Amino acid sequence: MNGIFITFEGPDGSGKTTQLHLLADFLINQGYQVITTREPGGTNISNQIREIVLNPTHKELIDRTEILLYAASRAQLVHELILPSLKKGKIVLCDRYIDASIAYQAYGLGLDRKTVEQINHFASSHLQPLRTYLLNISPEVGRTRLMNRENADYNGGLDRIEQKEIEYHQKVLEGFLDLAEEQSNRIKKINANQSIETIFQMIKEDAEAIIQNNRKEG
Ligand code: TYD
Repeated sequence: MNGIFITFEGPDGSGKTTQLHLLADFLINQGYQVITTREPGGTNISNQIREIVLNPTHKELIDRTEILLYAASRAQLVHELILPSLKKGKIVLCDRYIDASIAYQAYGLGLDRKTVEQINHFASSHLQPLRTYLLNISPEVGRTRLMNRENADYNGGLDRIEQKEIEYHQKVLEGFLDLAEEQSNRIKKINANQSIETIFQMIKEDAEAIIQNNRKEG
């Protein structure tokens, strides 16, 4: 059986991390071998890059450095963890991936989308997820949720990206929604204003169908 690569995206505070862990627990209970990981991060080297890119005191970080750091973290994660796990037939669930760089760095910062894509194709050796769940929520609602979370980094505060003004986060959401329209076969857009349980039912049913299909093909 081939491995299956699934990613979770959405504005900050959309609840994607909660859904990723619910799906992981469900699939593990079903007997599947599941790897969960996140970006930026997921390996020792990528976690060190995460600290550089998200630390709110790093005000001097320029946009080009930012996009390259996300891509560098991704290159390490893809080649050290994701590809080897997929080769072993595992299901890999990743909290954010290339769509985040298109939304946050191309749409959000205004960097050239083609360049962002090229950098990321190089970093990832063109690895794309089979399915992406996009949790769709307004940046305002997302921010309110973030302010109420208990387990945040940076002493309960917002990280460098989360601290950016709401207009930036509007552009990011626009990016995600454009991507979902362009790649509707891969990206499943979900209304994240619904209950955790309702959202999970949708994701669970969809993921089970993907796994069954993949089994038939593999
Ligand atoms: P996030 O998944 O929100 O981390 P956490 O849930 O632990 O706070 O990701 C961290 C931030 O990094 C988030 O604000 C989005 C941003 N980001 C980018 O700007 N570009 C990227 O390519 C990735 C992967 C994340």
